[in-house]
This record gives sequence, structure tokens and C-alpha cells, in this order.
Amino acid sequence: MDKQTQVELLDELVQLHQRKSPFLDEHWVRVDCERYRSEVVFARERERIHRGLPQIAAHVSALPGPGSFATVEVVGAPLLLTRDAEGRARAFHNICRHRGAQLVPEASGCKHRFSCPYHAWTWSNTGDLIAVPHEKSGFPGLNRADHGLHAVPCVEHAGWVWVDLAEGAERVDVPAHLGGMAADMEALAARDHVVFDSVTLDIAANWKLLVEGGLEAYHFRVAHRDTIAPLFLDNLSSYRCFGPHIRSILPRSTLPELADRPAGDWLLGEHANVLYSVFATAQFLVQEDHFIWIQSHPLDAGHTRLVLSTMIPRADNTPERQGYWKKNHALTVKTLIEDFDLAEGIQRGLRGGANRQLNFGRFEGALAAFNQSVDAAIA
Ligand code: FES
Ligand SMILES: [Fe+2]
Repeated sequence: MDKQTQVELLDELVQLHQRKSPFLDEHWVRVDCERYRSEVVFARERERIHRGLPQIAAHVSALPGPGSFATVEVVGAPLLLTRDAEGRARAFHNICRHRGAQLVPEASGCKHRFSCPYHAWTWSNTGDLIAVPHEKSGFPGLNRADHGLHAVPCVEHAGWVWVDLAEGAERVDVPAHLGGMAADMEALAARDHVVFDSVTLDIAANWKLLVEGGLEAYHFRVAHRDTIAPLFLDNLSSYRCFGPHIRSILPRSTLPELADRPAGDWLLGEHANVLYSVFATAQFLVQEDHFIWIQSHPLDAGHTRLVLSTMIPRADNTPERQGYWKKNHALTVKTLIEDFDLAEGIQRGLRGGANRQLNFGRFEGALAAFNQSVDAAIA
């Protein structure tokens, strides 16, 4: 992010802090509870959003070189990612074309051919069917060219492997999807980071509740009183939308010090965390020396699988730093579990049916913006 934008973002928050005012939208809004518990709404979201827009399938380090592969699940679809001899990343449904067995059970490795564990139909890492046991007697006339692995459009962009699971999609246009957020995504320099540690959590809550949990600082003082609350200012954060994507600025408690320092010295990363919510299932929480990648995989209206990864600069992955990063990762997981426990409580309450609507205050405007983007996408 350029220096001038950093100063403007900090200045806006310094001024709000001096006026003792939160960052306010014009109105507060109510949203209908059905959006969090209805399987009908969820089915539309799955079609139009989760499987209708580009999704991050992996960090590029999951495919370190030609012949490498990784298996992942993207919003419930098991995928096989490979890197072919030319170095191109590819994605396929990790499903056998004979009778549908899961083709590759391993999480990752290096292989140029994949043999099904059921009857050993075998494919190359470019998805071509290359062997069928007893083919002549069992499948006379089988056209191998029609039985390649089901390919999914796949592209590498800004350090991530992206896929598009939309029916009939032919390519993944990530820059068009990211729009005004593209430059910030490049600036994250994800390519120069590695996954230090990851945890997968199955959470009994709607995926939108989990996204919303990161979009306001109203809850910090209360919900995170035992973890990060002292590190942040009470109920102060700002946001800006780039199409459906949101950049939130979460100032740390050192922000007021800036008032006495020349703006030329101000650096956003020293005084604020930045949360990028890339519509709709990825969030990147940028801290001073690393970032957290939160990838959600909505499973149904009331269940979401989340993968939390602590991403650290490759050059900083040294033996002396392991203890520091471990501590960081543990604090992140502990803090986010505080959020997820609350979301599970909300989801249980939604089943009970007491509330028909939920309320977003004027300082929770990013939640309203996010939900408007969801509505626009499924309209
Ligand atoms: S199901 Fe894969 S070879 Fe039969
Ligand atoms: Fe939180």
C-alpha cells in the first residue's frame, strides 16, 4: 500500500480517536435470521458464491516443483492439484472416472501418475487416462480421451493457487475478481511466505457469522478481554469496500502516539492490523511481521470448516524464531476460537428461533456491506 494511503488511513483513525468517536456508517441495519439458517439460502450461496466465484485452493508452496501434488477440499469438493513437467499448476476433481473412488488419498507428495486404489485405472498428472486393467475384455471401445480426470480451471496468482468450480467455467480470471483489491493482494507478497502452522476446525455455525466476526472491533473489549483486547483501542476500526471485498483497518493501542509524530514517519503496519476479506471465503489478517490466512469451507447452512494458517516470511523461518512463531500461532488460534465459540452460540440460538432479526450498529457497517454483497451475488 502506498505511503499516502497509509497516512490517510491512520490519520482518519487518529482524528476519530481524538474526537472519541467510532467510525460510523449513516444508519444501523437489521438483517433477517433466515439468511443464517436456511438451507435454501445456503444452496443459492453455494451455487452463486462458493462454487460461482474464484476460490483459493492452496498456497503456491503446496506445489513446490514439477511432479508435486496436493489434495485439498474446496467448499466440499475434493480436488487434486498437480504441477506438470512444464511447471504449470493444474486442478482436477480427486475422483476416479471408473466408479468414483477417491483417487489420491495422500495429502501431498511427488508423483507423475495416479493409480486408483480400487481397480487401478491410472492417470498422468496432466489428467490423461493412461492405464485400465483388463480394458479390452471389460470396456471394449472405451475412448480414453473421454475419460480424463475432470479438470477444474486453475491459475496461480499473487502467491495462491486459485480454482473456479462453477459449472462450465473455462478459466479463472483472478484479477477481474479482485478488482480494486488486486494491488493489495500483490503487496501481501504471499509468494515470499511459508505456512508456519495450520489448524483445521469444524465449526457448527453459518459461514457468514464467521466472516462477520472479523469485521468489527466492537467486541474486542468484551469477547477478547483475556487475549488481545489490551492490544487494541476500544471499538475503533474503519473499512473500505472494493466491490464485494473489504479492507478493514484495526488500529492498535499505540495509534494515539502518532498525533505527536510527523506523518512522514507513520507506517500503517506499526500501528494497525489490516484484515482483507476476499469475497467470499478468504480472509487475511495482516500483522506487523506476518499474516494469518483464514479460509472457510461452508459445508451447509449451519456448518463450516475453517483452516487457519500462520504465514511467515520465508527468510524468517529460522530455528531461533520457531519459539516466537509458535507463540504467535497459539495466540491467534486461541483468540479466533473465542470468536468461533460465540458464533456457535449464535447458531444454536438461531435454531431456537427467538430472534427474527439481528442488528448491526453504525460502527458495524462492514457487516452490513458484506451481507449486501452476499445478497447481490445470490439475487
Ligand atoms: S473406482 Fe477407481 S479404478 Fe475402479
Ligand atoms: Fe474477534
